Amino acid sequence: MPTISQRGINMPASPIRKLVPLANNAKAKGLKVYHLNIGQPDLATPEVAIEAARHLDRSVLEYSPSEGIRSFREKLVKYYRKFRINVDIDDIIITTGGSEAVSFSFMACLDPGDEIIIPEPAYANYMAFAISSGAIIKTIPSSIDQGFVLPSVDRFEALITPRTKALMICNPNNPTGYLYTQKEMNQLRDIVKKYDLFLFSDEVYREFCYTGAPYISAFHLEGIENNVVLVDSVSKRYSECGIRIGALITKNTQVKENVMKWCQARLSPPLIGQIVAEASLDASEEYMLEVYNEYLERRNFLVDGINRIPGCYSPIPMGAFYTVARLPVDNAETFCAWCLSDFEYEGQTVMMAPASGFYTTPGYGDDEVRLAYVLKKEDLRKALLVLSKALEAYPGRIMGQDK
Ligand SMILES: Cc1ncc(COP(=O)(O)O)c(C=O)c1O
Repeated sequence: MPTISQRGINMPASPIRKLVPLANNAKAKGLKVYHLNIGQPDLATPEVAIEAARHLDRSVLEYSPSEGIRSFREKLVKYYRKFRINVDIDDIIITTGGSEAVSFSFMACLDPGDEIIIPEPAYANYMAFAISSGAIIKTIPSSIDQGFVLPSVDRFEALITPRTKALMICNPNNPTGYLYTQKEMNQLRDIVKKYDLFLFSDEVYREFCYTGAPYISAFHLEGIENNVVLVDSVSKRYSECGIRIGALITKNTQVKENVMKWCQARLSPPLIGQIVAEASLDASEEYMLEVYNEYLERRNFLVDGINRIPGCYSPIPMGAFYTVARLPVDNAETFCAWCLSDFEYEGQTVMMAPASGFYTTPGYGDDEVRLAYVLKKEDLRKALLVLSKALEAYPGRIMGQDK
C-alpha cells in the first residue's frame, strides 16, 4: 500500500473536533449535549444577507476574479475606514475564509524552516497551516494566572533566531478572549521593527471588544505598515461561517503579488459567498449592536457562573466569544471525554474543548478548557449546572478551592 505523507501525519487533530465521536455516542444514547466547545455562532445572519442569497441575480454562477469581486472589495475599504484601518482596494484580497488567508500568508511569506513566534494558547489551525507550509511555530506560553497578558518582550527576543520571519497574534484572541492593550501592541510593533519581521494579525473578532475603548488594529501601528498582513473573515461577525469568505489585507506589494499566485492557482473565492458577504456590509447598526450586546451579556453570565463553581476560575475576557477556564480536575482532556462518555445529569451533558490542544508546550493547559459562549443564556445556565454536577461526580476531581 502506498504510504501517506509525513506532513499529513504531523498535522495536529483539531482539539475542538477530537471529542466529536464521543458526543455523537452521547446523542445516540438520547442525551442532550450542550456545545460549549465550538465557535459556531448561533445568532441569526443579517436579514440583508439572507435576502441577497434568496434573490441571487445571476444567470451563470461563474468564477469571480481571483482577488475577489471589485464591488465587494470597494465596500470593504469603507468598512475598514470605520475602524480607522486605511487600506486601498488593491490591498484587499478575498479568500476562502480567514483560514485560507492564514494559509496563503504563511505560503507567501515563509520558506520551509522559517520560524513564526506566537503567544499561546493559540488558535490550533495556525499550527496545522504552519506544518503545511513547512514553517515552524515557536510558542511562548501566556498564563491564566496573569489573565493571558502578552508575554514580556524578553521572552520574544529569547526565541528570535536568524530564521525568525514573523510574529503572529490573534486579537481579540481565540481561545482566551484576551484583547491586547495599546502598550502591548506598541511592544509588538517595536519587536517587529527591530528585527524586521512580518506581523500576521488575525482580527476576525474585531467587532467583539468589550472594553468600550476603540479597537486597536495592527494597521494602526506606525512604521510597520509594510510588515503587517491582516487576516479577516465574515464568519464570526455576521454568523456566516458557511459562506467561506475572508480576506488577506496587506500594503506590502511583494506579499500581495506572491499571495496572488496562490489565489490564481485556486482560481476563485466562492462567488455566492462574496455576494452574500457584500450584502452583509449593509447590516444595520441595530443588528450589530444587538449581536454585540448578546455576546456581552452571555460573557458576563458564563464567566460569573464559572467563577461561582468551587475550584473553577476564568479571567474576564475582553473580546471574542471564548474564555479559557481552569477546572479542579486531574486532566481536562480526560474530564471532557468523561463528561461525554460516563456522565449525565437529568439526560444532559456538556462538551468542552480541552485547552491543551491550544498549547504546544507540554504540560500547559492540562487543567484548562476553552468555553465558547455561542449558546442562548438559558442553555448556558443549564450547561453551567451540568458542569457543576459533573465536577462533583468526577473521580479525578482535585479537592480544595485553590488547586
Ligand atoms: C482566530 C480565528 N481565525 C480564523 C478562523 C477561521 O475562520 P473562517 O475560515 O471561517 O473565516 C477562526 C475560526 O474559528 C478563528 O477563530
